[in-house]
Amino acid sequence: MDLQDPRPRVLVTRRIFAPVLERLSASLSLDVHDSDQALSPEALRERLAGCDGAFVATTERIDAALLDACPRLRAVCSMAVGYNNIDLPACTARGVLVSNAPDVLTETTADFGFALLLATARRVTESEHFLRAGQWRTWSVDLFAGQDVHGATLGILGMGRIGQAVARRGVLGFGMKLVYHNRSRLPAQTEAALGARWVDKDTLLAEADHLVIVVPYTPETHHLVGAAELARMKPGATLVNIARGGVVDDAALAQALRDGPLAAAGLDVFEGEPSVHPGLLAASNVVLTPHIASASLRTRLAMAHLAADNLLAFFSGGTPPTALNREVLARPR
Ligand code: DGY
Repeated sequence: MDLQDPRPRVLVTRRIFAPVLERLSASLSLDVHDSDQALSPEALRERLAGCDGAFVATTERIDAALLDACPRLRAVCSMAVGYNNIDLPACTARGVLVSNAPDVLTETTADFGFALLLATARRVTESEHFLRAGQWRTWSVDLFAGQDVHGATLGILGMGRIGQAVARRGVLGFGMKLVYHNRSRLPAQTEAALGARWVDKDTLLAEADHLVIVVPYTPETHHLVGAAELARMKPGATLVNIARGGVVDDAALAQALRDGPLAAAGLDVFEGEPSVHPGLLAASNVVLTPHIASASLRTRLAMAHLAADNLLAFFSGGTPPTALNREVLARPR
């Protein structure tokens, strides 16, 4: 980064795609942390202190203390849809624009949620490990017999854009019955089109053969599914988490996978990731993936371009397309 450069200074907190960097560097002065290793909180504070903007993902924690150490900061643009790592009220209070990256990842993430559901219910990875380990000796009548997906009851916890996209796949592609729980109900027309039934959380847990969790992570959704909720699920049910680590109590989940009632789980997100609870690592009836639900190349590129669109719009005096706190735009930039 050239300190004499009069253009707004932006820290890019990780390695991103070259075409996105090219677009940004045409009008911004960039400090690029060109690595997949997240900056430590201290390094982030040091690098961000002299910057006007930040390009972030899910791994950088932007809180009040960091904002106070970086008084120059005017915009934080994330390439993720989830923004639980950013203290939005603290940003708004200090006039810092925040944007996320919704919509562009909806279908890709729903594809992956469904892939996890199928792999979990039909024991795809567990049986593959068995085969690769040379343990397959003979065909047998119940070898890796799992749970049916077609015609089963799909439960969706969190019926936002991604939840609805998973639901469409289940209902239209697999003839599933649909129950969901969300703070607000879908419009009657959408419910009717999917045959969706809104139920309270306990009924959802009791009725779902396959539960897919897609709620944002907030203080209210911390351990939304813990030991008590898991105990309400059907014997032989499966659970898929593509939301955020922390929404499910991973220790309780590991126990429910060992002692019942769950048959299996598919998890793309974990409490304290990239660490994974040892009880989950030890369980054979869980499919584990490293937070990749949105990771098709095309979608990850679109997510990064959207974060760039927001930064470029903000620093050129325009309206960032997916700002989360537009009210700060009324203030002088
Ligand atoms: C998101 O966008 O929030 C995803 O979890 C990151 O892939």
